[in-house]
Amino acid sequence: MVEVIVTGGAGFIGSNFVHHVVAERPQWHVTVLDKLTYAGNLQNLSGLPEDRVAFVHGDIADADLVDSLVAKADAVVHYAAESHNDNSLQNPRPFIDTNLIGTYTLLEAVRRHGVRFHHISTDEVYGDLELDDPNRFTEHTAYNPSSPYSSTKAGSDLLVRAWIRSFGVQATISNCSNNYGPYQHIEKFIPRQITNVLSGIRPKLYGTGLNVRDWIHTNDHSSAVLTVLEEGRIGETYLIGANGEKNNKTVIELILELMGKNPHDFDHVNDRPGHDMRYAIDSTKLRTELGWQPTFTDFRSGLADTIDWYSTHREWWQAQKDEVEERYARVGQ
Ligand code: NAD
Ligand code: TYD
Repeated sequence: MVEVIVTGGAGFIGSNFVHHVVAERPQWHVTVLDKLTYAGNLQNLSGLPEDRVAFVHGDIADADLVDSLVAKADAVVHYAAESHNDNSLQNPRPFIDTNLIGTYTLLEAVRRHGVRFHHISTDEVYGDLELDDPNRFTEHTAYNPSSPYSSTKAGSDLLVRAWIRSFGVQATISNCSNNYGPYQHIEKFIPRQITNVLSGIRPKLYGTGLNVRDWIHTNDHSSAVLTVLEEGRIGETYLIGANGEKNNKTVIELILELMGKNPHDFDHVNDRPGHDMRYAIDSTKLRTELGWQPTFTDFRSGLADTIDWYSTHREWWQAQKDEVEERYARVGQ
């Protein structure tokens, strides 16, 4: 029996990873450590067998709690974070507390107990690319984050690197591009637009909408993380991406088309301050060194499945919709 702690396992990507591990590794037991912030939802874990998954409600910055859990674990996969750029522009403080202090607290615990650590991060630590730049991000791209969110994620990556080098912590890092799929909070781009259409609200595009994101299905992110956890070289960073570059305007038009609406029925709203223009991942290292391949590469059908999920899980998101839209309306978005 392998005991794995998944921090942030009640959030979007963490919960998808827990479902993946339960299905793929029948000998493993997972303990989810999650604070259940506005972004955490226990329903994301419903249906999982109780003898395979335990839930602990708590903060990754709570050193005593973290120490007691890590002492009994074989590995920690660290997803917990404040994860939304727009929120970080309104109130950066929780990003410092969770992304920096929380990661530091986990690192100290895995150092004390000699436990394997995998740190989940984002391609946003690299800043952005010009639309016509022939290059994509690699493991050698210099860090250049733009927002309070991405700078705290960059800081957390650097803490992990320092704990590997100075203290010999057995850690790996992965930096992934934008995820989509079920259980994503409706403040984020794709679920916000889908639930807008389902609520009779016009989709909202920031600025010109020419900004490019490199979309990957969250199930492909999960399989990549499991690969790095099991086969990645200690001390290494692996970039995770599935060649999914698309601009935001194209994605909104596709959502409208797939939902049977006029693809031009959306609003241009205020741009995000400091809005990164383009992210693009070169995942050659992960593919060649560890043999990983994405399998959900048809964006149109992945998006159609995601639309279907939000259409059939109204009870999952409905109660939050008004509050999320009021928050955006206050800043003209
Ligand atoms: P999310 O906001 O949906 O979920 C975050 C989870 O962490 C929630 O369940 C929340 O309750 C929990 N949490 C927050 N603060 C906590 C704390 N102090 N202690 C314990 N739990 C806490 O986020 P997500 O989109 O699933 O992102 C998960 C991870 O993946 C983050 O580290 C993020 O930086 C990274 N990432 C996200 C994307 C993306 O497209 N969303 C892409 C690449 C990397
Ligand atoms: P988001 O889902 O917030 O992810 P990230 O900021 O990590 O890339 O946003 C994805 C893109 O969509 C980003 O370029 C901002 C844009 N966007 C909109 O155009 N409209 C929206 O309502 C939201 C939430 C985002």
